[in-house]
Amino acid sequence: MFDTSRECAQRLDAEDALSGYRRRFYLPDGAIYMDGNSLGLLSREAETAVLRLLDSWKRLGVEGWLQADPCWFTLAEELGKGLASLIGAAPEETIAVNSTTVNLHQLLATLYRPEPERYQILCDALIFPSDLYAIESHLRLRGLDPKTAIVRVRSRDGYTLEESDIEAAMSGAVALAVLPGVLYKSGQLLDMRRLTAAARARDILIGFDCSHSIGAVPHQLSAWGADFAFWCSYKYLNGGPGGVGGLYLNRRHAHRLPGLAGWFGSDKTRQFDLDMQMTPAQGAGALQIGTPHLLSMAPLCGSLQIFQEAGIEAVREKSLRLTDYLMWLAERELAPLGVRIATPRAPNRRGGHVALLHPEAMRICMALREEGVIPDHRPPDIIRLAPAALYVSFEEVRETVQRLKRTLLVETYRRFPQEREKIT
Ligand SMILES: Cc1ncc(COP(=O)(O)O)c(C=O)c1O
Repeated sequence: MFDTSRECAQRLDAEDALSGYRRRFYLPDGAIYMDGNSLGLLSREAETAVLRLLDSWKRLGVEGWLQADPCWFTLAEELGKGLASLIGAAPEETIAVNSTTVNLHQLLATLYRPEPERYQILCDALIFPSDLYAIESHLRLRGLDPKTAIVRVRSRDGYTLEESDIEAAMSGAVALAVLPGVLYKSGQLLDMRRLTAAARARDILIGFDCSHSIGAVPHQLSAWGADFAFWCSYKYLNGGPGGVGGLYLNRRHAHRLPGLAGWFGSDKTRQFDLDMQMTPAQGAGALQIGTPHLLSMAPLCGSLQIFQEAGIEAVREKSLRLTDYLMWLAERELAPLGVRIATPRAPNRRGGHVALLHPEAMRICMALREEGVIPDHRPPDIIRLAPAALYVSFEEVRETVQRLKRTLLVETYRRFPQEREKIT
């Protein structure tokens, strides 16, 4: 199906229906950008949206709250509509707000109700540390000891999780589960549908950190019945550094009072009554707290236009072909030089990036930068490569592997000078 030639990569690019989107992004000069799962690139649409917001501030001052286009007062809800289609939820179940970690805090404050016999929070051994810190702090706030109140599902290989292990950990003492959609190190995609069904069958509330899955993988959170989710916009959504996060709250929880309340969580028609009695919005909007950070929301307006146009299914389809090609090349060209692949091979078990393993991953990433490829390193041994479907080409994937191979040859020679004969 593939071969290692440049012609093969060029043919894949020629057949790529999304190739035109690349021109709409600012690509770093002279470098191949493989770090879109850390910080996505700026699109022209996102730039225009920021300039438009600045212009409305310039022209309208405070009147921008109601007169700007898009209207500042309802921008979080407007963006929520675009996000809803990416995570498979209704608009009122989704809101653009805060940062990832703050959204997890808000969701825990709203949904986590420990009882004497059912108080544990289930997560996993590979959880992103900020999520764990947030969970621990909620337990402490409620006088619980994180050591006994957190169940962390182990990883059998240090990189991936087994859904059956997670299900086995869903005991009667577990009140709530927080799991990743895609694991931030290995890029493994969890079966969110299966895990949601298992949790619901046991009366456990379940939610997902979708930071590494939104914009890379289609979701059906509402149809699956997940209780909540939260994410950032600065990775695959290309929403800019520090860009606004998002959250999803299943409509069956719409009646709940926000755990952390503030006036922007009010019903929009009542907010400016400035009543001492809050009237919360119906749905995810109630989980807003204070004045939205409009300048960090503006890029997402432009970015979501691109997703609407391209379609998340098409983005996923190309992303799978890119990562397939990358893994195929890595197996042939890099495995003989000591690289292993941590990312599951099956399409339904991987997200948008590929994690390559090497004991000198940090040094290799530094050297790869010198070679004009921007990768990402996660200690101790992971080289993360994210060929973002909207702006990375197959030829760039091929070139990345070639440059990585050169870097590895130099590294191998440095570590094992006696091997030089074999590798040159
Ligand atoms: C999987 C995951 N969860 C949570 C976070 C924390 O996000 P934030 O700093 O936006 O709160 C990150 C940040 O990269 C992440 O990758």
